[in-house]
Order: sequence, then C-alpha cells, then structure tokens
Amino acid sequence: MRATSQLLVHDQLLLITLFLLSVQTTAASGARDRFEKGQNLTDGDTLVSPDGSFTLGFFSPGASTKRYLGIWFSVSNDTVCWVANRDQPLPDKSGMLVFDDLSSLVLVDGSRRTVWSPNFMAASAAVVQLLDSGNLVVHNGSSSAALWQSFDHPTDTLLPDMKLGKDLWTGAEWQLTAWRSADDPSPGDYRRTLETKGLPDIVLWQGDVKRYRTGPWNGLYFNGVPEVTAYADKYTLRATTSPWEVTYGYTAKPGAPLTRVVVNYTGDVERLMWDAGTRAWKPLFKGPRDQCDTYARCGPFGLCDPEAASSGFCGCVVGFSRPAAAGTPSQSAQEVNDTAADGCRRDAALDCAGGATTDGFAVVRRVKLPDTQNASVDMNVTLEGCRARCFADCSCRAYAAADIRGGGDGTGCVMWADAIVDLRLVDRGQDLYLRLSKSEFDDQKEFPTLLVVAPVASGVIVLLVVSLIWWRRKRRIIGAIPQNPAMAVPSVNLSIIKDVTGNFSESNIIGQGGFSIIYKGLLPEGRMIAVKRLKQSALTTKGKKDFGREVEVMAGLRHGNLVRLLAYCNEGKERILIYEHMQNKSLNVYIFGIPKLRALLSWTRRLELLHGIAHGVAYLHGGSGESVIHRDIKPGNILLDDEWKPKIADFGTAKLFVVDQAGPDQTIVVSPGYAAPEYARRGDMTLKCDVYSFGVVLLETISGERNGGLHRLLSHAWELWEQNRTMELLDTAVVPLAKSEPELLSELKRCIQIGLLCVQETPCERPTMSTVVAMLTSTASQIDRPRRPVLDSGGVVQPSNSSHGLETDLLSPTTIDLT
Ligand SMILES: *[C@@H]1O[C@H](CO)[C@@H](O)[C@H](O)[C@H]1NC(C)=O
Ligand SMILES: *[C@@H]1O[C@H](CO)[C@@H](O)[C@H](O)[C@H]1NC(C)=O
Ligand SMILES: *[C@@H]1O[C@H](CO)[C@@H](O)[C@H](O)[C@H]1NC(C)=O
Ligand SMILES: *[C@@H]1O[C@H](CO)[C@@H](O)[C@H](O)[C@H]1NC(C)=O
Ligand SMILES: *[C@@H]1O[C@H](CO)[C@@H](O)[C@H](O)[C@H]1NC(C)=O
Ligand SMILES: *[C@@H]1O[C@H](CO)[C@@H](O)[C@H](O)[C@H]1NC(C)=O
Ligand SMILES: *[C@@H]1O[C@H](CO)[C@@H](O)[C@H](O)[C@H]1NC(C)=O
Repeated sequence: MRATSQLLVHDQLLLITLFLLSVQTTAASGARDRFEKGQNLTDGDTLVSPDGSFTLGFFSPGASTKRYLGIWFSVSNDTVCWVANRDQPLPDKSGMLVFDDLSSLVLVDGSRRTVWSPNFMAASAAVVQLLDSGNLVVHNGSSSAALWQSFDHPTDTLLPDMKLGKDLWTGAEWQLTAWRSADDPSPGDYRRTLETKGLPDIVLWQGDVKRYRTGPWNGLYFNGVPEVTAYADKYTLRATTSPWEVTYGYTAKPGAPLTRVVVNYTGDVERLMWDAGTRAWKPLFKGPRDQCDTYARCGPFGLCDPEAASSGFCGCVVGFSRPAAAGTPSQSAQEVNDTAADGCRRDAALDCAGGATTDGFAVVRRVKLPDTQNASVDMNVTLEGCRARCFADCSCRAYAAADIRGGGDGTGCVMWADAIVDLRLVDRGQDLYLRLSKSEFDDQKEFPTLLVVAPVASGVIVLLVVSLIWWRRKRRIIGAIPQNPAMAVPSVNLSIIKDVTGNFSESNIIGQGGFSIIYKGLLPEGRMIAVKRLKQSALTTKGKKDFGREVEVMAGLRHGNLVRLLAYCNEGKERILIYEHMQNKSLNVYIFGIPKLRALLSWTRRLELLHGIAHGVAYLHGGSGESVIHRDIKPGNILLDDEWKPKIADFGTAKLFVVDQAGPDQTIVVSPGYAAPEYARRGDMTLKCDVYSFGVVLLETISGERNGGLHRLLSHAWELWEQNRTMELLDTAVVPLAKSEPELLSELKRCIQIGLLCVQETPCERPTMSTVVAMLTSTASQIDRPRRPVLDSGGVVQPSNSSHGLETDLLSPTTIDLT
C-alpha cells in the first residue's frame, strides 16, 4: 500500500461515526474495540466492535492449522470477512499484532519478525479500532480522518459501506479476490472488479478471462440482476461516477439483518443475509445463475435464452444467423461448438457510407445489455437523440438507453461500434436497438401488396375461419379416436398468418425466446390466437424435416389441461404453430412475480392449478392411448387461461431444436432445476423425468421460490416438512382467507409430501403421474414417506462413455411404450 493511500476519499459518514465512537466508551461487554501505541493483541485475544457485530482476532481456516489475523461476524465465527496476512500465514499461535515504537502497526511472529504491516503515515497518537461496520481503522487520536482502513483493502467480502471500483486520483482499485480454497485465504483464481470503461458493470474474472457480468448499471441496479429489487427495501445499491472515482457499493437500512457479498473460491458470487431465527446465512442471490450467465456464451451477436435448454440456449439476434443451423448433417459436434463460439453472422450487409444510409433499427427486447467496455456513453442525451447519433454514425452497430430512472424508454445513450457480446434474455431486461439493413425491414413490407388485393385476402381469411369451424366439428367426430390425428390440424398459408398478425408486427409480440417469437393474432371473428414463429436460425436440419410429423403427434393430444394446437404453417423456411391464446400468460409470471401478482394466487387456486397440471401430464403419459414425455415441464411452460385454468404448452417442440449429431463430445443441456438427476448425469429420459419436474413445479408453486441449479429448494422443503414446519414453506403472499388454518395446514402438508415423493433420487421411488393425480384428489389414499432429496447441480450433461444412450433417448420418436 502506497503512502498516497491516505488520499483515498473518506466518507463523511465515516467521520461522523468516528466522532461518535470516540465519545462513546468501549462496549459494555468489557471487550475492547481498540488499542494504542505500546499495546498489543496476542493470539486468543480479540477486539470486538462496540455493538458486538464484528470480532478481530486470530483464526485457523477450515482444516488448516496455520494462523491468520482476520475479522469475522461475531454471530457466526466461521464467517471471516477480512484477512490481514492472506499469503503470510503464521505457523503457530505465537503471533501478535502490536503498535511498535515507530507508531506503526505490525503483525509479528514468535521470533518478532514482521509478517504483515499496513502502510500509513506514522502518527504520534495512533489508535487502531474496530467499528460496527466491520471496518478496522487507524486514526490519530481524536482526529477523525482515518490514516488507514481495512475497507480499502477488501479480501473476498463486500460489506455495506465498502466499495468496488477505482479512485481516479490515486489510481487505487478496490476489488474482491476469492480465497484459494476453504482452508487457504491466499488470493485464488477468481476476482471481482468494477468495469469502469463504458457504463459501470461488475465483472467476475478467472485469471485474465471474463466469466460473468452483472450487466451495466442503469441508474437503479445492474441491468442483468433485476433480482435486487426484491431486497431493495433492506439494502440500497449505489454507483458513483465522478471526476474522483467510479465506484459501486451498497448500504444497509437501519435494522436490516447482517449481510455480505462474497466471491467464493468456487467462482460463485453470493449475496447472503443472516437469518437470526435459524442462525444461518440465507442466500439472496447467487451468480452465475445459469448457462446464459457464462460470459459471451453465444458469441458475437448471439442471444442466450435461459428457457431454451433443449436447444443449447443459443440463438441469434434478429437479422443474424448461425452458420451451424443450416449446417450439413456430416458436421461434427466439435464444429458445431466452435461455430457457436464464433457467434452469428449478419444476413444482409449494411448500407452506410459518407453519412448516407438506408439502414434501420430493430429492437431486441428484455435483454441484459451487451458488454459496454468499448461502447461510448453520453448521459446528457435523450433516447431519440441517441438514435439520431447512431443513425448518423456508420460505425454505430447498436444503441440503448443508459439510465432508466425516469421510467418510459429511458434516457442517456450507450452506443456500440463493434460486436455485441454477452447478450441474454432476462426478466425485466432492457431494450437494445440494433442496426440492420433496409432489406430486413423490406421483407415485412411486402405485406401491403396483400392489402391491395384485400378482397382476395379476406376471402382467404373466411377460408381459414371455415376450416377452423370444420376442424372443430370434425374434432368432435374424431375425438374418440385420437390415435389417428393425421388430418386433425389444418395447415394454413403464410399469407393468412401475416394478415392476422399485422405482418408479424412488433406491436403484436406477446412473448419471445431465443428460438421463437410469439405474436398475438386476431381472427376476423374477434377471437385471439397465439402464433408461435420458430426462428429459422435456431432450428436444426432434422428439426425442420421432422416438423410435420411432430405437428401430427401434437395434434393428436387433446385435453383440457393442454394448450390446443389450432393450426400450423410449414411454408418455405417458415415453421409456425398456432395455439389458442391464453389471457393470463404463464405460471412463472405469478409465482415468481412481485407480491401483488403472487397474491392473485390464493392457496385454493394454487392447489387447483397443481391438480390441473397433474391431470395434463398424466394425460400426456398415457391418457391419450399413447405415451409422450414432455421433457421440459417448468412454470414457463404452464399457461393460464382467463379462468386460471392451467394449460401445458410446448409438448413435442423441444426435440425440434436438439442438435442432430451425437458425436463423442456431445453436450446435452437441460433446464437446471427441473432436470431429474438420472437425466442430468446420464441422459436417461423417461416418464419419471417428467414426474420429477412436476414435483419441482409443485414445490415452487407452493413456496414461490425458484429451485435453481443447486436444487436447494428441495432439501429446504424436506427439512421443513420433516420438522413439521410446513407453513414456513408457503409463499408469504398467500392470504389463506377461505380456509381455516388447520385445514390448510393438512392440505399443505400432504401436498408437500407428494411433491417430495416426485423428486426422489431413484426413478422407481417416484410415483407415476396417475398415482399423483389420485393422491392429490383423494385424501383417502396412502402416501409413502419421502426420503431426503439428493442435491444435484443439473445443468450440462456430459455423457460418460459412448453416445449410444443419448442417441436413442434424444432422437427416439415421441411415442414410447408404457412399460
Ligand atoms: C503486550 O501487552 C501486554 C499488556 O497489554 C504487556 O504486558 C506485554 O508486555 C506486551 N507484549 C509485548 C511483546 O509488547
Ligand atoms: C465459535 O463459536 C462456537 C459456538 O458458537 C464455539 O464453540 C467456538 O469455540 C467458537 N470458535 C472460536 C474460534 O471462537
Ligand atoms: C497526530 O496528532 C498529533 C497531535 O494530536 C499531531 O501532532 C500529529 O501531527 C498528528 N499526526 C498526523 C500524521 O496526523
Ligand atoms: C463456498 O461454497 C462452498 C460450497 O457451496 C461453501 O461450503 C462455502 O461456505 C462457500 N464459501 C464462502 C466463503 O462463501
Ligand atoms: C474491446 O476492445 C479490445 C481491443 O480492441 C478487445 O480486445 C476487446 O475484446 C473488446 N471488448 C469487447 C467487449 O468487445
Ligand atoms: C447537456 O445538454 C444541455 C442541452 O443540450 C446543455 O445545455 C448542457 O450544457 C449539457 N450538459 C453537459 C454536462 O454536457
Ligand atoms: C465447447 O466450448 C466450450 C467453451 O468454448 C468448451 O469448454 C467445451 O469443451 C467445448 N465442447 C466441445 C464438445 O468441444
């Protein structure tokens, strides 16, 4: 540490705190919070902050016997938040922290050799003191300015009032560095820094490689982590950009529980909150959350969709496509992977030279904005002004608002001149405006020619309506023989679909993923339909070929709890599915939503939803006479109609995106959190995998908590169930108005037990879906006692030896025997 460090900006807050503390005497407990020149702290001795929250002393981490000087949370003495001598451990307990005659603070070993010493200007009246914030400060007697403070030298933990970033005067940088292992606090591979070029953005590094970004600061929070809004009432985030510093930090509101952000030696970044009730740390956030958080996962101009596990997550932004999608069948998995990393290519060249251009902008909705490291930022311009600037500058590839505090579309301007990297879809994400060739827009403008021949067009619509009516009648007749679905769903012309969706008008988009865009469409009779347009760039060659066959299978499946396929289009390069339109979006919107949305689902409604979903899955599993594995049951695939009746969507489409080739290195990816362990480990896909996913959906619907890649919810639910504390699992937004407490409690307990049975480790211990339906509907039926669920990280599947199992599992026909 250089002597100039005293120039580091000192918060006024710190001055006030110090002043108050110097007036106050040391803690009532008798433990001291400070010592002065000539005094010392030996191993076994501690300093305790005045309110008792933090303790400074000597410790041995994990299994190690080496001694370190550090600060820990007094309530949780194995949670160390700062270490002085990270890479100079003491061999034994003979170490001592002492203020020597030269007024410097030194940590010495048994033979009085200096092991560690903070660098500050010697002061005659120097005092070292541990504050309530967990900050160890050295100051000069009653003088308020700190000569040195541990908050300027973070290790792996960020506490309230600390900061990350750069001091632009001294060039000093505050960053977090993970421990090497649980037993070794020396600096490990992972670092977390504030990217200060472009917009502030927190980056997790492994060595010199970027691993994960939070997304740029948008005035309120980091754009890729909207989860913070859930705890904004307790902890306030702030980013500071001034001529002196670019920093990020957070503060805790008075009375908020203890909290910390830590970079684990495993490469995870976690925010935790101390739960005084259970005396344990409760995770509030953990990143990277999923595959899409992996930095630049889909390459330049790629778009990662975390909901699209079956297709390997990667698609392209509009106007770009991935060469692999049109790849030849002989392409190896290796090549597919390499191309994926290379990203996407522009479909039509831009036209911009000497200030004249015919290009336009397309909007990519709800994303974590790309890396802004090389982007230019101007906060003093409106979004309209930003658009004009980007338009006039041929090197500008995309732009977005830099500040969303004012609401609306935001203000400020960030412009990208090179590749767009690390783009993903995120709940409540921001809009990115992408420069594209005029021809990308012309394509959609061919539509007006249809309007010119309006009589013809409406004639065609009449035909569509007639065919729908015809089909509905016919369905009634053939309803009894669903095994023969071949003729059940009409194929409609692309021109009709263009007509009812306003030529795929942006204003009609109701949903979007990496692999499809869903539009609402209005039939002349006033009925709404949902038009799912599969992205050509995401479909595999086999997927395109199999489309017709899959449609037939889907059409044969009809049940009140399945979304009904009304028609499809298989014309040229287009693959489109037309479904009934669902008023109330999907289950995830409510169970993981803001309290107001959660409260819409009462306990009774949640129970009804689960009954409906169970019936739907049971039907897929055999009720139709055929047996179909859904493969991707999750709340996002459970749609809700205007009467809150659940309808399962996307059965059968997952396979259209599965990579064709099963090479030796093939990687299959599954939705973390919902994948059964045997599928995650070996790729074994059976009906029992759906049962597992259903169990997760059940527990999520009750608790309002995501299971996530760590399957933490499962063990949490098991523990509460086992300890007869089931009420604690119920989402607090549920107001049990209609039911008496004991009745609700017994329903809740039974329901959780069923959910836990569904997520048993061994497939044969899980009930079949028809048994689940029976257990849910009749309280008379006996339920087995579940065993503790086994934790599994899910995520990427790496088959152990040959690809044989995979090939048969993933590429088998939709229908399998019920054995
Ligand atoms: C440490 O402090 C104690 C009392 O505060 C004193 O008795 C002892 O001599 C000191 N040790 C050294 C090595 O300064
Ligand atoms: C930490 O706390 C536990 C109990 O809370 C106690 O048994 C243990 O001795 C403490 N360890 C240290 C190093 O103070
Ligand atoms: C520390 O305080 C003393 C008197 O209180 C003063 O003489 C001395 O200059 C101060 N030293 C520094 C480095 O501030
Ligand atoms: C790091 O993660 C491991 C495994 O999840 C956990 O046991 C450990 O407590 C974590 N360490 C920190 C410093 O959070
Ligand atoms: C920014 O530019 C540098 C130098 O050209 C390059 O190495 C880096 O990859 C770029 N970063 C991004 C996110 O494009
Ligand atoms: C911001 O823009 C306004 C008007 O466009 C101008 O008057 C003002 O000086 C600008 N401020 C900065 C800091 O550039
Ligand atoms: C695919 O790429 C990732 C990262 O670029 C790499 O870790 C992985 O081993 C590659 N897989 C194959 C099959 O080449």
